[in-house]
Amino acid sequence: AVVSRSARDTHTTLTIDMCHSGETECPPMGLETLRIDDFQLHASTTKRYGLGAHRGRLNIQAGIYEDDLYDGAWCAGIDDPLQWFEVDARRLTKFTGVITQGRSSLWSSDWVTSYKVMVSNDSHTWITLKNGSKDLIFIGNREKEIPVRNMLPEPVVGRYIRVNPRSWFHSGSVCMRVEILGCPMPDPNNYYHRRNEVITTDNLDFRHHSYKEMRQLMKVVNEMCPNITRIYNIGKSHSGLKLYAIEISDNPGEHEVGEPEFRYTAGSHGNEVLGRELLLLLMQFMCLEYRSGNQRIRHLVAETRIHLLPSLNPDGYEKAFEAGSELSGWSLGRWSNDGIDIHHNFPDLNSILWEGEAKKWIPRKMFNHHVPVPEWYLSKNASVAVETRALIAWMEKIPFVLGGNIQGGELVVTFPYDKTRSQGVAREQTPTPDDHVFRWLAFSYASTHRLMTAANRRVCHTEDFAKEDGTINGASWHTAAGSMNDFSYLHTNCFEFSMYVGCDKFPHESELPEEWENNRESLLVFMEQVHRGIKGVVRDLQGRGIANAIVSVQGIGHDIRTASDGDYWRLLNPGEYRVTAKAEGYSITSKKCEVGYEMGATSCNFIIGRTNLSRIKEIMEKFNKRPIRLPVSQLQARRTREILMDIKGVINAFVL
Ligand SMILES: *[C@@H]1O[C@H](CO)[C@@H](O)[C@H](O)[C@H]1NC(C)=O
Ligand SMILES: *[C@@H]1O[C@H](CO)[C@@H](O)[C@H](O)[C@H]1NC(C)=O
Ligand SMILES: *[C@@H]1O[C@H](CO)[C@@H](O)[C@H](O)[C@H]1NC(C)=O
Ligand SMILES: *[C@@H]1O[C@H](CO)[C@@H](O)[C@H](O)[C@H]1NC(C)=O
Ligand SMILES: *[C@@H]1O[C@H](CO)[C@@H](O)[C@H](O)[C@H]1NC(C)=O
Repeated sequence: AVVSRSARDTHTTLTIDMCHSGETECPPMGLETLRIDDFQLHASTTKRYGLGAHRGRLNIQAGIYEDDLYDGAWCAGIDDPLQWFEVDARRLTKFTGVITQGRSSLWSSDWVTSYKVMVSNDSHTWITLKNGSKDLIFIGNREKEIPVRNMLPEPVVGRYIRVNPRSWFHSGSVCMRVEILGCPMPDPNNYYHRRNEVITTDNLDFRHHSYKEMRQLMKVVNEMCPNITRIYNIGKSHSGLKLYAIEISDNPGEHEVGEPEFRYTAGSHGNEVLGRELLLLLMQFMCLEYRSGNQRIRHLVAETRIHLLPSLNPDGYEKAFEAGSELSGWSLGRWSNDGIDIHHNFPDLNSILWEGEAKKWIPRKMFNHHVPVPEWYLSKNASVAVETRALIAWMEKIPFVLGGNIQGGELVVTFPYDKTRSQGVAREQTPTPDDHVFRWLAFSYASTHRLMTAANRRVCHTEDFAKEDGTINGASWHTAAGSMNDFSYLHTNCFEFSMYVGCDKFPHESELPEEWENNRESLLVFMEQVHRGIKGVVRDLQGRGIANAIVSVQGIGHDIRTASDGDYWRLLNPGEYRVTAKAEGYSITSKKCEVGYEMGATSCNFIIGRTNLSRIKEIMEKFNKRPIRLPVSQLQARRTREILMDIKGVINAFVL
């Protein structure tokens, strides 16, 4: 029993069974997840270093330049049937299956069409798996991307396992990417392995959840914590599945003046599934910890309105889920039902802003923030996914301050801009005016993750992000127009990041407890950062909040706006800032606001009065927009005199 309803509901005690993975099938040993180290992989020969045994991992990706150190498979140095690829499990293991894939490559076509399997306890004496008296020949791949799994007729125990290619695609070479299914045999004396085992003490539902199971789990959380949660949806997917979100707040359902709004979203690429599970785990965790009085969680829930949306692309997820964690390959389920990459489906506002800057339109003809969505994008025939439209409507409706979208296939946190400033350049550092804040916030996630900044960590595919502490400016990785992060920053107040939470896009269920441990602290720390910088309310002389007022910080060329109650949040690193509030028809007010190192945003409120000009305009409205003429009637003479007295000499110029 993992998650159960509260005690008051004794008749319908609902439990979700965690014992899903039976003992008959062993999980992947972790060539893909990097649980298996490079030094555990060997081969008979290799074509060159970039195609060495350490590259023979399921789903590994080649870099753009394939002839470098980071190529897309293990390739034998000689194309003959005597080659082998070996995994040293470093302990007795029950092997149950082999998964193979061809070489990741844009240019060449290499895959193994049949192979034998051997096991050994000492790497000298090998036992070849047999079918009767003959060596067993396994049928391999038919193309390079789709993984093919072969279960061994019976589990075999050993420490080493070899795959021996017997035939391969006729115009290609002996190249493969491999995963081995195996269960470690109990080995109480092996300290090396015990030290590396991560156990979680959190009693949560560690499983992959189909759409229905996800909905059910969210309902259970809501019923366990009705005071602090609310389920809603932001719209539907192409095939009609609702895009569910859960809100966690001490007053669910309403925006509280001065309380910042935070969001985590996941699964815009339906096949990058870990984020979905992490958010489902996070909502269970927060609910349980809130109930048991965890002060950190209570504080967070009281001071923040948190939104968790675990699946932005449920249609894509269902496709990947059906194929399963090892066989969905690298891209099955990435796109929406109508073939759109939701994460990069937003309007490219960067170009619009940068063109405005080049023409010196800012600030007179154009703002440096809140760039409007262009007309063409709103038209029905623009190729915009319904999921993207729902997401944009949500981003516009709620005054989010900080957000993270959880992705997969790498281990890094990226921050905007995602699009390079120079046209046609694949990668180029392209900072926002808030670069320092973005770097800090990205680092807050990466540095608290158990692996992102680990010094001895091997790179997932081709990029080593360690030199930037597990973070990177999106555009300096690879340019992408219309990303959620750039759109969020340029169209709304919200600072948005992408967290790539693992090399493996679809980790095996057995990895989930460890992945939760890897990410739990990061998920919490990043949420807490929404309370950094300054916040306040911009009010008029009567004390009413002014919506849509512009709050500028001297030296940062990106303003933010107040929400409908006049409240605003401005993420800033520690320092002293000159802050200005202005709104149409009001006079401009500036003040100094200081941000300290301790947590908690500095209060920085503004009271601004109407400008003389706007008061004059208001008065002219009373005269039905006609120019005010000198008295024509007694009545008007009296009114004009009142007005003149009211605003003294200022109006003279207009009247005369
Ligand atoms: C390796 O050793 C184990 C335990 O002694 C034994 O059960 C297994 O059959 C051996 N495997 C091979 C391939 O020799
Ligand atoms: C084993 O050999 C038999 C007879 O040749 C064949 O029918 C069967 O499919 C083989 N089994 C496997 C797992 O290859
Ligand atoms: C929920 O609200 C009720 C009524 O206000 C209160 O008695 C109860 O303690 C609250 N539960 C939690 C978990 O905060
Ligand atoms: C959408 O339709 C309008 C008018 O029919 C056309 O001018 C425009 O090019 C179309 N846009 C796209 C993206 O197809
Ligand atoms: C607005 O009018 C008042 C009184 O008429 C005057 O003292 C003040 O200087 C004016 N302010 C501006 C910004 O012109």
